[in-house]
Amino acid sequence: MSQVVVVGMQWGDEGKGKIIDLLAEQADIIVRFQGGNNAGHTIIVKGKKHIFHLIPSGIFHDGKLCCIGNGVVIDPEVLIKEIEGLKAQGIKIGPNKLCISERAHIIMPYHKRIDIAREKKKGGSKIGTTGRGIGPCYEDKAARTGIRVIDLLDKEGFLKKLKERLEEKNFYLTQYFHEEPIPFEEVADAYTKYGETLRPYVKNVAHILWQAKNEGKNILFEGAQGTHLDIDHGTYPYVTSSNTLAGNVCAGTGFPITAINTVVGVCKAYTTRVGGGPLPTELKGELGDHLREKGGEYGATTGRPRRCGWLDLAVVRQSIYLNGVQQLAITKLDVLTGLKEIKVCIGYRYNGEEMKDLPISMDVLARCTPIYETLPGWDEELKPDWGNLPKEAKDYLDYISQFTGVPLSIVSIGPKREETILLKSPF
Ligand code: GDP
Ligand code: IMO
Ligand code: MG
Repeated sequence: MSQVVVVGMQWGDEGKGKIIDLLAEQADIIVRFQGGNNAGHTIIVKGKKHIFHLIPSGIFHDGKLCCIGNGVVIDPEVLIKEIEGLKAQGIKIGPNKLCISERAHIIMPYHKRIDIAREKKKGGSKIGTTGRGIGPCYEDKAARTGIRVIDLLDKEGFLKKLKERLEEKNFYLTQYFHEEPIPFEEVADAYTKYGETLRPYVKNVAHILWQAKNEGKNILFEGAQGTHLDIDHGTYPYVTSSNTLAGNVCAGTGFPITAINTVVGVCKAYTTRVGGGPLPTELKGELGDHLREKGGEYGATTGRPRRCGWLDLAVVRQSIYLNGVQQLAITKLDVLTGLKEIKVCIGYRYNGEEMKDLPISMDVLARCTPIYETLPGWDEELKPDWGNLPKEAKDYLDYISQFTGVPLSIVSIGPKREETILLKSPF
């Protein structure tokens, strides 16, 4: 029996979906604990690419239960589309395969409208959100004015809440942003229907997980976003609105802290970021374009080009202690093949001083210069065989492992399941 958490160690899109799909083989339950459909997790099964925004990335394995925990914010329209998309491909999805916490908060149309209107108003200083209403939904949760999954199941209560919320949100939309109001009937009708569609899946997820643990089952917790997008520990304000750290598994599912065994950190062999905010190792020229094209670095949710740069080990080292990472999964090593030399950032220089961690102030960070180490590259195509990796590729991996003090357990050298070297299973 093992309870394993997988988190991203950079700014998201590290390849968590692929790693979850791979490890789901050994899990009985796969659980999302935070974020919403700002996430885009790509998996490739039988040559076909699938992108999940809300459904856990273990859904293609038979006989497993996928859960959406209370810490997730759910856009019911998106979730239903994902369920229907899977059904259309012949995948049987029922309550025995997917369940949703009754406590999870619902993304409402006004959350999306406010998210987009705010970004528009901010202009050049925008965060670059996904526009999916994530921040405004978490705001309502904290303000205790959110609408939860359980509310959707009680039509009368829901309509009363909706009326109250719309009064305030429409005032904000029309008076502050000079936008059109959101009509009550349209939302009432659509969301009551969503509630009915989702009703069979709604469960007490915390209790299901507790029972599963007591029955000796393996549970895999799927992080979304990345450590440096964490609302508390990330590059604030250029972050998402949830805690992305492994520690949030407990609050985001109700699973007890004493029952978690292993934390796996997923780290891309270079760095990417989508949206605004400083990115110290960003490569703006030809090399950055090369990484973007070779790595297919376009957002799985919004299609935006991802900013690319060298691996920032200062960022990764910080993620080790923030999450208690015990095993490393390095992804997209193949993208570096063919480069003569590869740089890694090991700290920053600011006003003549050396810094080990990312500075907390974004103004300071924007003025930091990375301190690089240069390592030799390799030309040989990578194969999923540890013994036959080019010496330089192994040296690169060893360097990361030594610098962070954490052993490697997985090396990914392509988007498919079989393009992986599994050195040690976290289960
Ligand atoms: P996630 O959000 O962390 O799940 O990552 P995304 O799915 O947003 O982005 C990762 C992208 O890289 C996807 O297109 C994956 O199919 C792809 N990918 C994952 N691992 C590898 C790898 O080892 N090599 C290559 N070339 N692509 C990979
Ligand atoms: P996965 O799970 C990469 C980024 C957005 C923006 C910031 C805030 O696929 O790794 P939000 O819509 O959350 O309010 O946007 O966070 N962001 C992500 N970047 N991968 C993600 O998820 C992200 N989810 C949010 O681009 O900069
Ligand atoms: Mg992604």
